[in-house]
Amino acid sequence: MACFILLSFLLLLKPARTAGVTQQQQQQQGVEVVEVLVILPKNNSYVHSYPRVAPALLHAQQRLRAAGQFPGLTFKINYEDSECGNHALFALVDRACERRPDLILGPVCEYAAAPVARLASHWNIPMVTAGALAAAFSFKSGEYSHLTRVAPSYLKMAETFAAMFHHFAWKSALLVYEDDKGERNCHFIVEGVYMLLKDVKTYTYTFTSREQRLDTDDLLHGIYETEVVIMCMGADLIREVMLAAHRRRLTNGSTIFFNIELFNVSSYGNGSWKKGDKFDNEARQAYASLNTVTLLKTVKPEFENFSMEVKKSIQQADFNDCQDCGSINMFVEGFHDALLLYAIALHEAMKNGYNKKDGAQITALMWNRTFEGIAGPVSMDANGDRDQDFSIMAMTRPEAGTYEVVANYFAINGSFQVLSAFNMDHFTLRGRRKILPDTPDKSYGLGVSALTGIIVGALLGTALLMAFYFFRKNYRITIDRRTQRAECDIGKHRQLREDSIRSNFSAA
Ligand SMILES: *[C@@H]1O[C@H](CO)[C@@H](O)[C@H](O)[C@H]1NC(C)=O
Ligand SMILES: *[C@@H]1O[C@H](CO)[C@@H](O)[C@H](O)[C@H]1NC(C)=O
Ligand SMILES: *[C@@H]1O[C@H](CO)[C@@H](O)[C@H](O)[C@H]1NC(C)=O
Ligand SMILES: *[C@@H]1O[C@H](CO)[C@@H](O)[C@H](O)[C@H]1NC(C)=O
Ligand SMILES: *[C@@H]1O[C@H](CO)[C@@H](O)[C@H](O)[C@H]1NC(C)=O
Ligand SMILES: *[C@@H]1O[C@H](CO)[C@@H](O)[C@H](O)[C@H]1NC(C)=O
Ligand SMILES: *[C@@H]1O[C@H](CO)[C@@H](O)[C@H](O)[C@H]1NC(C)=O
Repeated sequence: MACFILLSFLLLLKPARTAGVTQQQQQQQGVEVVEVLVILPKNNSYVHSYPRVAPALLHAQQRLRAAGQFPGLTFKINYEDSECGNHALFALVDRACERRPDLILGPVCEYAAAPVARLASHWNIPMVTAGALAAAFSFKSGEYSHLTRVAPSYLKMAETFAAMFHHFAWKSALLVYEDDKGERNCHFIVEGVYMLLKDVKTYTYTFTSREQRLDTDDLLHGIYETEVVIMCMGADLIREVMLAAHRRRLTNGSTIFFNIELFNVSSYGNGSWKKGDKFDNEARQAYASLNTVTLLKTVKPEFENFSMEVKKSIQQADFNDCQDCGSINMFVEGFHDALLLYAIALHEAMKNGYNKKDGAQITALMWNRTFEGIAGPVSMDANGDRDQDFSIMAMTRPEAGTYEVVANYFAINGSFQVLSAFNMDHFTLRGRRKILPDTPDKSYGLGVSALTGIIVGALLGTALLMAFYFFRKNYRITIDRRTQRAECDIGKHRQLREDSIRSNFSAA
């Protein structure tokens, strides 16, 4: 009897012991298998869908292997569909029931990234993403402690505007943006600008094109009041606004126009005014006063190869639902560099006696360092956010309607570099109209939360009420749409959404 018990005891023990030995052996041989969970949307209508990003991760894996720099490291990459909301959290939790990942890459969408980032911090798992760019994620001391952002946050982008306003001594700005009430990229982009333009009189104008047509007349009232107009919306709407402004002769140098385009490389630059309709000529003239703020592009030979490889794999995969999938946007590039950065940090951590489960140590090692990314050096600041450089493009030959980069902004030293194509006239306000009466800016006193809906400066209470009405309306629609999918209680969902990212800009 005793023997039998002993025997079964040994038998029970055996598998565990062998597992222990293999793990030990692996460690002795320096083999570390890192479980990577990539949480991105599957739908290719997102520029950061995982079919688009996957070839970049594969390339990074191959590069790490080929370099032989980190001989013991192997990455096992799994994908989960995040959609663009709560699904990301569910995917992570479901997956982690089996086995917790060692590294989370993604999500990109703010509302998907927020809960995942919190759980990652709680579970001590490093999370590296080329998204989660909203300002709220900059506050890392609490719930976002394990979040590292390898793409430029909107606050970093906004520094470009802060530097320009300082440099050219502009005094007022109108921020115009389209709020899709879904991903809300433009909302968060403009929030960043708003937060950094502290000494500038700022007005905001927002609309939801799905439900309202953009009323250019209404918008242009705002334009008369301000020196600089900063827009974030689809290319077609930009054209509409520029045409309307041109017709009212606001493009004569008395107002400076900017649009912000970070994601879609094909929608700015040469020919962005061209649509093949009868307004092309007018649009070309109008765009002569439109400048675009975008990412500074560095090109190194290795990047060309990377770009070709990614294009090749996309072509082989043959997605029929995907236009311009082969174009390398900042997400594709970013996730490649994310894996690289993690490998560097983990390697260093292991040298110091830590292992892949020491998330906080690995995260700390990813911050405050510069490494060679696929398109050039990538510098991470001490807060774990990338310092990215930006370019300002302007039309340099109005007859031909061609664009060139005229200035760059370097985040690392906060300096502004003016290139040979730069024309000072283009950035100088001409024939300023009436000086604005010095009414106190309501938006500061009130706190930013009131600034939702259609508010142009210190407009009347009626406008505020109307804005509130529109806002509620749109908001409800958003909730309804999401509820159908997530099958969530409406009240609860709203709560979650409002809490999900603490925006400094508006209540939603
Ligand atoms: C992807 O998203 C687009 C736009 O939201 C939608 O029209 C399309 O049906 C989606 N595709 C799939 C396969 O879910
Ligand atoms: C990018 O911009 C081009 C031109 O405006 C447009 O045709 C295309 O659909 C956009 N792509 C995405 C993914 O938004
Ligand atoms: C890229 O570089 C790798 C190795 O350096 C090479 O094997 C591959 O053929 C190159 N790809 C292209 C498309 O040039
Ligand atoms: C960042 O790194 C530099 C040296 O590379 C060091 O001097 C500095 O103290 C570090 N900053 C923080 C906040 O850790
Ligand atoms: C636009 O076209 C001009 C002339 O062909 C060229 O010099 C310039 O580099 C192009 N700009 C961009 C951003 O492609
Ligand atoms: C800022 O950094 C950029 C890029 O590293 C460099 O070209 C430029 O000269 C620097 N400017 C100043 C004022 O240090
Ligand atoms: C430009 O047009 C606006 C609006 O028509 C006008 O008030 C302003 O004086 C004009 N400025 C110049 C420099 O012509």
